[in-house]
Amino acid sequence: MWTRPSLLDFAKRYGTDKWGSHFYIPHYERHFAPYRDQTFNLLEIGVGGYKDPALGGESLRMWQDYFPNATIVGIDLYEKHVAGPRIRVYQGDQTDAVFLERVVAEAGPFRLIIDDGSHLNAHVIRTFEILYPTLELGGVYAVEDLQTSYWSSFGGDMNDLTSANTSLNFLKSLVDAVNYAEREGGVPSYVERHTVGVHFYHNLCFVDKRVNDEPSNIVKPRLTGEP
Ligand SMILES: C[S@@+](CC[C@H](N)C(=O)[O-])C[C@H]1O[C@@H](n2cnc3c(N)ncnc32)[C@H](O)[C@@H]1O
Repeated sequence: MWTRPSLLDFAKRYGTDKWGSHFYIPHYERHFAPYRDQTFNLLEIGVGGYKDPALGGESLRMWQDYFPNATIVGIDLYEKHVAGPRIRVYQGDQTDAVFLERVVAEAGPFRLIIDDGSHLNAHVIRTFEILYPTLELGGVYAVEDLQTSYWSSFGGDMNDLTSANTSLNFLKSLVDAVNYAEREGGVPSYVERHTVGVHFYHNLCFVDKRVNDEPSNIVKPRLTGEP
């Protein structure tokens, strides 16, 4: 009896480092399976292979086969020759807002975005700030290789776990965005009003984008003193 191939099957077939070098695939399968048969656009930052134009594309091929109705878009700092019937590749820097806006205009909007690019902490934060507002409602934004959040060579910090400059601390702050209704303050930000879940795994994070208008239950406990 035929069983539909899993994401792990495709990861092994194409040799992406998302499995073996890292162990991300079960987490991707958990968060991305609901999108499997949807028609949508996926963006992955980082095609792979670095300066060699002939190398890379392993994860783009994996996504192409796993999502039979999706268009798979990859961006990389370097020229890349990755072909596929539903694969498009752009060359540019993940922190270049003008470039990213062109990619979104031409090939988006995106329902799933994966940051597997430079992994420099400042880049991860900047790219999120540019792209998250363009992510479709109901979409997911994933960030890989968060170990660099602890690496000073990548702008990380393993000693100050409250530093505002690290990617993990930036992503951790989104927990407070999810719960903005519980805090007194001014007008909620765009991210606060559009983030409903943050999921952390070893070196990997998923952010769920939907309208966050769930009210607080704060009135009752304030009046009664009960939780
Ligand atoms: C780890 S590889 C990507 C692997 C691929 N996503 C996979 O899972 O098979 C990272 C890629 O990010 C690219 N990259 C590095 N800095 C970048 C930047 N500032 N903007 C866009 N891409 C960048 C590199 O050239 C490299 O090809």
